[in-house]
Amino acid sequence: MKGLIILNFKNYLEVSGPKTLELAQICQGVSKKYDIEIILAPPIPTIYYLNHSVDLPMISQHVDNENPGSTTGYIIPELVKTYGAVGSLINHSEHRVDHKTIEQLINRLRSLNMISIVCASNVSEVGIFAKFYPDMIAIEPPELIGTGKAVSKEKPSVISDSVLEAKRYSKSKILCGAGIVDKSDIIEAVQLGSQGILIASGVIKSESWEKKLSELAEGF
Ligand code: G3P
Repeated sequence: MKGLIILNFKNYLEVSGPKTLELAQICQGVSKKYDIEIILAPPIPTIYYLNHSVDLPMISQHVDNENPGSTTGYIIPELVKTYGAVGSLINHSEHRVDHKTIEQLINRLRSLNMISIVCASNVSEVGIFAKFYPDMIAIEPPELIGTGKAVSKEKPSVISDSVLEAKRYSKSKILCGAGIVDKSDIIEAVQLGSQGILIASGVIKSESWEKKLSELAEGF
């Protein structure tokens, strides 16, 4: 595959109800047309349904380090795996988790043959999390999320420094996200060493999901 896009649906109402499947199907078409891996992070209750509707990998937006059995109101890795999730975001800046729990979740996902994508807010956190050996680390400066001001243009050294910092400790893939909205943002991110991007509003709030995703795919 030429590149990797992780599309975080978050809780945007623009992708609620039947729109969830509509966007997933568009992602599937773009993924096949441009040979780009697109991983979906849809609203958690839709993972099972989408997993049986489109041929794309799904991840959970979050998982809790709670026990299976008599626990209530949590999302645990063992269950989302049965719904078809291949892994999970951990510590997204909109759902932060303490460092000990991050390490425990990475190990728990690994034991389930699930991938871990840990979100880091800065280069220092990249170094801390790389020592836990997650599959991927996504550097996302929180202040740029949803702004349309791409991390690859506003803070390019954060990406390049994150790549170097991660390499000091592990083979975790470095992704980046926050404010990415167009093809040039991706071109810059890849030139800085990012092996993929996380995106939400740049796609979800665009006028045409298919045109936007196609434009982004051309950036790899
Ligand atoms: O998980 C990716 C997300 O936090 C980026 O948000 O809206 O800036 O693409 P956005």
